Amino acid sequence: MKITYLGHASLSIQVANKNIIVDPFITANDLAKNIDINSLKADYILVTHAHQDHILDIESIAKRTGAKIISNFEIVNHYGELGIDGHPMNHGGSWQFDFGKVTYTSAIHSSSFPDGSYGGQPGGFLLETDEGNIYIAGDTCLTMDMKLIPLQAKLDLAILPIGDNFTMGIESASIAAEFTECNNVLGYHYDTFGYIEIDHQKAIDTFKSKDISLKLLNIGETMHV
Ligand code: NI
Ligand code: MN
Repeated sequence: MKITYLGHASLSIQVANKNIIVDPFITANDLAKNIDINSLKADYILVTHAHQDHILDIESIAKRTGAKIISNFEIVNHYGELGIDGHPMNHGGSWQFDFGKVTYTSAIHSSSFPDGSYGGQPGGFLLETDEGNIYIAGDTCLTMDMKLIPLQAKLDLAILPIGDNFTMGIESASIAAEFTECNNVLGYHYDTFGYIEIDHQKAIDTFKSKDISLKLLNIGETMHV
């Protein structure tokens, strides 16, 4: 499995010869100017919740690539009305896709569309594949529900928000890593705007003190799981 960081909470994942985009927010992110959304391949677009900083580029990517949206029922319905195909899920539900098994996990946050309309309940994703298991937490606080993740799958990587203010910060994300029993973390949802700027070295050191590796990728950089 290959994971490329596209800035903010946006990811590109290659697994089982499929291309998956997560929460595309690229064209309005000054830090992601080097990413050309027209070059992104997508068979699926995973959407954790309906906030603008997670959905901005869905429509253009989906319409260009024909990618199918995987998200909660309300978000899939919303894009269905725009002629975009999707697979609706809800919390605790799993589905076997051609790249692996996806579970829509719980998250504590909010999920309105930019116009204020209801975007269902926010979530995250657990991906169980032949090339590894990853947890994408989405925007969330630290929750006891994260202790359920290792009961379902042995994680190879936990992708956790670390920017604080709107989501977990560094300290609580390091506890989330312990809850999920995963010592390999990719941080996301940081530095994009003033509220969520972090001290990178402090973040890495906080995790390191618990024997957890925190990766902070450059935008456009790829890691292997
Ligand atoms: Ni959000
Ligand atoms: Mn967000």
